[in-house]
This record gives sequence, C-alpha cells and structure tokens, in this order.
Amino acid sequence: MGYDSDLSFNYFGPTKIIFGIDSSKDVEIEMGPYGGTKAVVVTDEGIIKAGLIDHIVKALGTKCVGVFSDIPQDTGVEVVDAGAAFAKKNGADIVVSVGGGSVIDTAKGMCMIITEGGSLRDFNGVQLLSRPQTPHVVIPTTAGTGSEVTNVAVIMDKQMGQKRLIVEHFNIPRLAILDPKMTAKLPKLMTAGTGMDAMTHAVEALHAMPHEPITDGLAIHAIRLLSRYLPLCVANGNDLVARGQVQIAATMAGWAFGLSGVGNIHALAHSIGAVAHVPHGIANGILIAECMEFNIESCPEEYALVAEAFGVREKGMDDMDAAKAAIAAMRAFTKKIGHPQKLSEMKVKENDIVKAAELSLGDGAILNNPRLVLDASEMLGIYKKVL
Ligand SMILES: [Fe+2]
Repeated sequence: MGYDSDLSFNYFGPTKIIFGIDSSKDVEIEMGPYGGTKAVVVTDEGIIKAGLIDHIVKALGTKCVGVFSDIPQDTGVEVVDAGAAFAKKNGADIVVSVGGGSVIDTAKGMCMIITEGGSLRDFNGVQLLSRPQTPHVVIPTTAGTGSEVTNVAVIMDKQMGQKRLIVEHFNIPRLAILDPKMTAKLPKLMTAGTGMDAMTHAVEALHAMPHEPITDGLAIHAIRLLSRYLPLCVANGNDLVARGQVQIAATMAGWAFGLSGVGNIHALAHSIGAVAHVPHGIANGILIAECMEFNIESCPEEYALVAEAFGVREKGMDDMDAAKAAIAAMRAFTKKIGHPQKLSEMKVKENDIVKAAELSLGDGAILNNPRLVLDASEMLGIYKKVL
C-alpha cells in the first residue's frame, strides 16, 4: 500500500489530555474551561462497586447534579435516550463519563440528545451535526477503547439487530483525564481483552485505506508500548507505570484509528458482539491474526511496520517476510497475555458465525479494509478458523 502521490488528509485531534496518577481528583478544576457547571456523571454499576466514583463525585461537589449508572455491557439507543432524559431532568450542561467503552459511548450519545433533543434513533447517518455538542469530559477505567479521543460511538440498535456507528466530529470529547489508578482494578481477562482492542486499533489504523503519516506514527508507537507494557499489566495489575503506558497507548491508538479508520477485524468483532455478546476487545484479540492473514497480500508494507514495532523484523527480511513475522508475533503475544484464542471459549456456536458473517458486510468498519471484501463467505471463512 504505502502512500500514493495524491496523498491528502485532514488531521483533527482536539481533545485535551491530562495524564498522571491521581489526576482524576482534579476533574472539577480541569473541566472549568469547557463552560458547564452542572455535571451529570455517567458510569455503570461495576464502576460504582469498584469504588471508582466516590472521589470524583466528591471532587465535583455541588457541580454534580446526578449519577446515571444504568448501562449494560453493550449500550443501546434506549440506554442513551434514558440517560439524556435523566440529564435534562437534572438540568445538566456538561457530561463527565467514568468507565469503559460502553459508558463513554453512552455519554457521547447523551451529549447529542441533550443539545439537539429528540432520540438517538433520529441520528441515522454520519456527520449529521452542524454545531458543537454538550461538553464531555472522559475519565476512562479501561485502557483500550480510545473512545475518549474519537468521533465514534458504537451503539446497539435492537430494532436493526446491529451495532450502529455514530460518527460526529462535533461530538469529540473536550477533555480526557488518564489516571493510571482508575484502571488498576481491572481483572486480568479484561486487561488483556481491552488491551487487544487498543492493539487492534493500532494495527487497523496502519492498514486502513485512509492511513497517513501522522496516524501511522501514533499507531506504531502504540504497538511498541502495548507489546512492552500490556504483559506487565496482566502480570501485576498494580504496576501503575505499566498501567499508565498502556493507557497512553490506548489513547494514541484511538487517535490513530479515529482519523484513519479500521477494517475487517472490527467489522467481524462488532458483528459477533451483536450476535453472541462477545466482549468487543476479546473478539478483536481472537480475530486479529486471522484477519491479518486475510489482508496480508494487500498491505505487506504496513504489517512490516507492525513487525518493526514488535521488534521481530530481522535484517534482510523483505516486507512480506516481515509481515508474516508480525502475524506470528501477534499470535505469540495473545498467548503470552493469556488471551482467549477461540470464539468457542466465549460460547459462540456455528450458527452465530453464519449470522455474524452476513451482518459484517453491512458494518461501516469494513469499508476501509485494505482488501476488498466481496462476499460474506470470505468473512465466514475467517470466523471458522477461530471458532
Ligand atoms: Fe475497538
């Protein structure tokens, strides 16, 4: 692939990042420039039980007008609408989300409905907004989604039976506070799975059709950081240095794929998530190597960069040899971090993959895949290899 002579792109990454241990305690001071004084905190019950909310509500003081926590693993249109109704009832003019991808994406949808009114169901398309939305401050409790810096929200639409991608430049969070302590309680499996979501964002940002040198730079360093520090996080969740580096990697990978795009790995992960409820990061981690095999002829140069980031490109290797080494390194890496290897480990059945393969062709993520996907049978072939 490489770059064409007619390369042109816009780079737009407006989210301010604050990084540091205990930085989440500064939320009230840091949200000052964004204008809101009545904050609704958006989170889920697991985060509340883990004790990750109390210090944030305390820091917000009288500026906290309510906590909305009725959010499932995969958020949906109805969840967003209920959250927005709760926020409006309490007069909220700024949203502080504390959680993983489902929480952050719920909050993104809420920001749109608080400003524009109606239901999220009314927003069926991309880049429909014409003005800035309700300010959104994100405090992630996982390191993977990258949603804290992207224009994308993934929202389940039960009526359509599919996860919808809401893509809006005017709805990118204003501020992300990365506090390594906020991810320290994440269990090993979730640490590995969300970390592989970040890894997938980085790899797909490199192979996506609109990739460019800035997103490539972000993606390559994200892979370096993940390959070094994610195993340390899995081995010892309280290693705050490793937790911090993985958080930074997830944010860099988020910036990269948010501008560049993703591909068939995400299309297949979204689809098997919609059909069989496989957690997003784990689906990506199971699928990544086989999807790279599928794409390798279309982007050996980009996968060779993955090999360099992993430190497995040996002297004399051409791009194709290095790309093959990258795939081998990816397989070894998922085993090293104790990541599930097969969809059947997540209770996926044969008929689930048939349904998901059909769905994947309608997933927006597939449009930027480096190899043109012509038929659902090609995607079914990938699923079968990892069932
Ligand atoms: Fe993802």
